[in-house]
Amino acid sequence: MTSTTRQHLLGAAAIITLAAIRLASGAVLVGGSCSASSSGGCGAGLRCTSCVPPPGTGPAACARTTPIDPKAHGAALPFNRYSWLTTHNSFAIVGTRSPLGSAIISPPNQEDSVTSQLRNGVRGLMLDAYDFNNAVWLCHSFSGKCFAFTAYVPALGVLKEVEAFLAANPSEVVTIFLEDYAAPGSLSNVFNAAGLTKYWFPVERMPNKPGAEWPLLKDMIAENHRLVVFTSKRGKQGSEGLAYQWDYVVENQYGSQGLVDGRCPSRAESKPMDSTAQSLVLMNFFTTNPSQSWACGNNSEPLVSRLRTCYDAASKRWPNFIAVDFYMRSTGGGAPLATDVANGRLQCGCDSIAYCKSGTCAMPSPPPPAAAAAAAPSPGPVPGPGPGPAAAPAPTPSIIFPSSSSRGPAAYAK
Ligand SMILES: *[C@@H]1O[C@H](CO)[C@@H](O)[C@H](O)[C@H]1NC(C)=O
Repeated sequence: MTSTTRQHLLGAAAIITLAAIRLASGAVLVGGSCSASSSGGCGAGLRCTSCVPPPGTGPAACARTTPIDPKAHGAALPFNRYSWLTTHNSFAIVGTRSPLGSAIISPPNQEDSVTSQLRNGVRGLMLDAYDFNNAVWLCHSFSGKCFAFTAYVPALGVLKEVEAFLAANPSEVVTIFLEDYAAPGSLSNVFNAAGLTKYWFPVERMPNKPGAEWPLLKDMIAENHRLVVFTSKRGKQGSEGLAYQWDYVVENQYGSQGLVDGRCPSRAESKPMDSTAQSLVLMNFFTTNPSQSWACGNNSEPLVSRLRTCYDAASKRWPNFIAVDFYMRSTGGGAPLATDVANGRLQCGCDSIAYCKSGTCAMPSPPPPAAAAAAAPSPGPVPGPGPGPAAAPAPTPSIIFPSSSSRGPAAYAK
């Protein structure tokens, strides 16, 4: 990364910090130091995190756990104009003991329950489903087979958590991506048993023509089509109504192979990233071997700059799903910030949804004097008369992606 890019990113992080001031309730803010041993006193939507390995030993700072609600400016756009924070292996949670009593040898990918993830604003769940022990289990396994020592939890419990969340939050839409090793029929039984059928988004309504858009988010909500489910297994579409993911979604390479700088190749099963018959774009960004401290680093600047790489690869489309490990770990804004950036870009062409105002970009209000010293360049609008011919150009809102920063605010109108 060039030092200019880094500076821009740091500037962006500082500005997002200011945006978070309004979210926090007087407590310690993003990037502020906190004590990892207690809950640390971080404000709402934040958590005290140490990025120095091993986790918990280094200096701790408040990091974001929660993106700005993607529908903060309404639900009147097609579903493919929103971006959702997504957890990879949402069920593989640190410290889980298998209900079967065995120690689990598969490394975990997340740190809190699916219920907690949903409360924090996660809206995409990646679940690996296997037939095992007379049920469907969520398992982080190998060779398409689940074992007692890789079996995290029966799928039913987690799907009931999703049902409870959808029942309690009638405006929320959740998307599930199944890495599906289950035999035909077994998953639909579990979805039924969990009470999720009533929320089912019908496969027939999913667009798969170049440039076609999804229904409006508000219509999905009004019709109670609030659960979107994709499977990795072809052929379940007719019998079970389970949409084959790569008919509708393009997805980049997952794991460490997908982290190579400057590239965003599609994963083997997906159509090329620039295939527009799939109107949803999923961006994976996590290492092959999950690690809390790597996630801390990779979920920070590298994740935000990867958005642009994948946007370019995906025929100028910002990711609708941003999938990470340890979504609460970063040095500040993390995956929630990346989600805000994607939503800003998708919904109003701004660097963050925090700046969207009636479809154009409003700048955040000028920082208080103390914060202003830390935030350079100043994000505030230029007060007073406009710059004369000899004056330096006014700062533009495009601070995260310098390559587009020559566009002034006027260029952002929809
Ligand atoms: C990202 O993950 C890789 C492992 O694939 C690790 O070597 C690297 O240090 C991580 N990056 C950061 C910034 O922490």
